[in-house]
Amino acid sequence: MDIKRILIVGAGMMGKNIAFVMTANPAYTVGVYDLYETDLAAGIRANTQQLVDKGILTAQELEERLERVAFTTDLESPLVSQADLVIEAVFEDMQVKRETFAKLEARCRPDTIFCTNSSVMSPSEISAQLTHRERFVGTHFWNPGHLIPLVEVIKSDASSDAVAQTVLDVLTSVGKKAVLCKKDVPGFIANRLQHALWREAFYMVENGIADAKTVDDACKYGPGLRWPIMGPMENSDLVSITLTKNIHDYILPSLADNHEPSKCLAEMLERGEDGFKTGKGWQSWTPEQMQASNDGLRAYLIDYLARQQQ
Ligand SMILES: NC(=O)c1ccc[n+]([C@@H]2O[C@H](COP(=O)([O-])OP(=O)(O)OC[C@H]3O[C@@H](n4cnc5c(N)ncnc54)[C@H](O)[C@@H]3O)[C@@H](O)[C@H]2O)c1
Repeated sequence: MDIKRILIVGAGMMGKNIAFVMTANPAYTVGVYDLYETDLAAGIRANTQQLVDKGILTAQELEERLERVAFTTDLESPLVSQADLVIEAVFEDMQVKRETFAKLEARCRPDTIFCTNSSVMSPSEISAQLTHRERFVGTHFWNPGHLIPLVEVIKSDASSDAVAQTVLDVLTSVGKKAVLCKKDVPGFIANRLQHALWREAFYMVENGIADAKTVDDACKYGPGLRWPIMGPMENSDLVSITLTKNIHDYILPSLADNHEPSKCLAEMLERGEDGFKTGKGWQSWTPEQMQASNDGLRAYLIDYLARQQQ
């Protein structure tokens, strides 16, 4: 299917960034629909200012890309009815998402591809009541959507292979690293990996093996440096299957395997400790440290993108 007109539904934090990302392919025009008026161009300009400052994007390129973006609060707009592909980024609420897609199905062509950016909800469940379920997939952009290359494409129990492939191709054409999650499982691929690691990290702190900062340091200054270059599957091949099996025979019986959240999480919440929101969680944080953490991550991601362009 030839994709030309893309519609983003929901102009919040993710929707704005996804709209900007989709303009990277000059063949696409991008419509954005939200219930409420917003200055979409101003929002995109603000979010992408650091890319311009770093020379990853020129101010002129940004303005040219913004010319291919149109905003509407009218569900009867041609931006909706003529869309070839829709990416939904409304509130993370099953009922809101289902109602949104029911409205879209009543207005779009039967072969318009539908994608949901839900970070945790099952695309099979979101699309359960649609008539044309084969044209529906998950597209999980990571936040910030314009800086993190990964997008997971998740097949529902009814998605067609052709639709999943088209979505992978579209995302690749705008410079994303699109990966296919062949089964609709909680956490898709990357959050399963992430939370398997977090479970072990929490277990070690809970059991006095190391404090929170030490666990983070062991990650950041060791294996974390490897991960942008070598994932776990390649790393296992590198060290050999023999060694991997020997290590797992020895270590797996002692790793965390709890199926409930760490009890430390409930204890912290009882004490009113909610991480950056309150300045205390696993560790205590000053406003300056929290700002430095947020800024540091963003600067790292922008440097990464700049290096990719060199
Ligand atoms: N924030 C993240 O880190 C993150 C990461 C990955 C995926 N996601 C997912 O992306 C989606 C959007 O998240 P967000 O953080 O951008 O939310 P947000 O609250 O910033 O934005 C949601 C937008 O949707 C609009 N909206 C709500 N109901 C609507 C409707 N019926 N029709 C049209 N527009 C409607 C709202 O007006 C708002 O502008 C969620 O499903 C979320 O889980 C979020």
